[in-house]
Amino acid sequence: MVAHSTIKNVPPLNHLAIIMDGNGRWAKQQGLPRVAGHHQGVQTVTRIVDECISHGIAYLSLFAFSSENWGRPQPEVDALMGLLLQFLASQRQRMLDGGIRLRVIGDRRRLSDSVRAALATTEEETRAGSCLTLVLALSYGGRDEIVRAAQKIAEQAALGLVDFKTLDNKQFSTFLDTTDIPEPDLLIRTSGEMRISNFLLWQSAYAELYFTDVLWPDFDAAELQRAIDDYQCRKRRFGLTDDQLQPVSVTDDKEITN
Ligand code: IPE
Ligand code: IPE
Ligand code: MG
Repeated sequence: MVAHSTIKNVPPLNHLAIIMDGNGRWAKQQGLPRVAGHHQGVQTVTRIVDECISHGIAYLSLFAFSSENWGRPQPEVDALMGLLLQFLASQRQRMLDGGIRLRVIGDRRRLSDSVRAALATTEEETRAGSCLTLVLALSYGGRDEIVRAAQKIAEQAALGLVDFKTLDNKQFSTFLDTTDIPEPDLLIRTSGEMRISNFLLWQSAYAELYFTDVLWPDFDAAELQRAIDDYQCRKRRFGLTDDQLQPVSVTDDKEITN
């Protein structure tokens, strides 16, 4: 017999996306160079990955480097790429042990050979991971992704493999980098900025948005809990009316045997 049944208006948080912003300002506050903020930001990533697993989140998408971030000073770009390589090397075993699968989205052609190779190796090695899919957005821009998808569709249409007259949202989305990844339920941006900055433009059409002033290096388990609690109180209508919504019954209720 089931007791303590919980009725929620929102589906369980399956996919969390985060715009990790504020590393530079955090470093400035501490009187440190911007790169120190990025270094600290990587520590936050490892903590938050663990927290997401404890919350039963299946997909975590992190905006790590945008297509526009290529315009930053070259030493900062180099430092970010170096930190990415260090992250992959230091987390390899942890990902394998913890069932974490790495997926990379973005335009890899702009990444260096060594970064591309390290990403491909890690993706291959972790492909059986079934606990959490960590989606790293690198050299990623939502507009760029949509244009690349349109190019792929045009190529396939020219070969007669796609009929653009019957093309719909569902088929279009299979040409995006995120093919097979469900849409984000909740999108968090840290550091007080209230914009999307070209992240998951297509996929976030119906994501719940959450903004916090906390800078990414200071983001922790308590802040994540706050965002999740906020999400649980949202009402996701997807264009329908309140009356049309079916309450979602959460299935993690304990069974009582007597
Ligand atoms: C986010 O922090 C990390 C990246 C964009 C790579 P920022 O570097 O944008 O930090 P702020 O916004 O300057 O504080
Ligand atoms: C967005 O942050 C990109 C990442 C977090 C990787 P930015 O710092 O680049 O965004 P803007 O320039 O403030 O919009
Ligand atoms: Mg920023």
